[in-house]
Amino acid sequence: MTLIAIEWDDTVGDDGRGGVRLLDQTLLPGTTTHREIRHTDDLVTAIAELAVRGAPALGVAGAMGVVLAMDEGEREAWSAAQVEQAVDRVRHARPTAVNLAWGVDRVRPLMAEGRDAVLEAARTVAREDEAANRELSRLGADWLLARIDRPRLRVLTHCNTGALATSAWGTALGVVRELHARDRLELVYVDETRPLLQGSRLTAFELASDGIAHVVQADGAAASTILRGLVDLAVVGADRIAANGDAANKIGTLGVALACADAGIPFMVAAPWSTVDLAMADGSGIEIEERSGEEVTALGGTRLAPEGTRGFNPAFDVTPARLVGAVATERGVAEPKAGTDLTAFADRSADPGHHSRDRTAIGLK
Ligand code: MRU
Repeated sequence: MTLIAIEWDDTVGDDGRGGVRLLDQTLLPGTTTHREIRHTDDLVTAIAELAVRGAPALGVAGAMGVVLAMDEGEREAWSAAQVEQAVDRVRHARPTAVNLAWGVDRVRPLMAEGRDAVLEAARTVAREDEAANRELSRLGADWLLARIDRPRLRVLTHCNTGALATSAWGTALGVVRELHARDRLELVYVDETRPLLQGSRLTAFELASDGIAHVVQADGAAASTILRGLVDLAVVGADRIAANGDAANKIGTLGVALACADAGIPFMVAAPWSTVDLAMADGSGIEIEERSGEEVTALGGTRLAPEGTRGFNPAFDVTPARLVGAVATERGVAEPKAGTDLTAFADRSADPGHHSRDRTAIGLK
């Protein structure tokens, strides 16, 4: 099934300019409905509510948000400063995934050339993200298969990193898809991913659509599943990766990494280069989004904790580089735990010519 999380749709609205069309992920898998967005503040709301989510998809949202601000500014006769303020609201709609600001900053310099130039650049962001995901998935699968001696791998993953979280294909789930395509995948253990259940609602939905064998487990089961020897590796996505390999991802990822270290199995982070933030030397400076405590004290709108009990709801954690066996990007696979950080890849381009060189660099044929 082809899932498109976010796109620019020329038929949205009635002035021929179009708008953002996004699959509302708050209602999946039960209800498939789209939000058609023409106002920047509606995009900010959609981002805050996680109707569109996942770092690479947020990069596309950021880029398309600039077009929205320009179109809305023209319709509403905003000043240039008002347009810039609207762009800034999109840029800061969520703090942890660097891709959101990256997507805005990628197209913002083109504003002087007009909205068509910005829209074309935003569409390019989406196209390049899919290409990056497919390449990093191939490289990630190569790295794993070179190190794990089993005909078919048993994989644990956390949160949702598939087509729904990206432009297409996925990052960690892209690696899973690549293993499946090579007939080297046995089973995926999907952490349900409390409190918003991106694992049980979204990852299971994507895997079921693709006919990939999987089970959903409570997040609290992950460490035990790993130490019992039921999985060969864990692969997760990231919202921001610091230069040294510290990686911010959905809350609960750190526990998975700790268990993998104890069990001596690979813990891989799979992400496009757009998620790497070389301006951050390490993860200590990454802002962790704190969401409403009610997402934890209630489930599906039903209060679970006693009235008066407050929830604590950090949405992400940071896994230190010493626990990260591999970071698979389209530029190659870094090994932070073994001492190669991300700066080694700073000057590489992602052009296809690098594929063979990257594979050679990591000791693969
Ligand atoms: O709060 P979310 O659902 O946006 O969090 C998403 C994640 O943590 C993903 O693992 C990450 O963004 C990578 S998506 C390819």
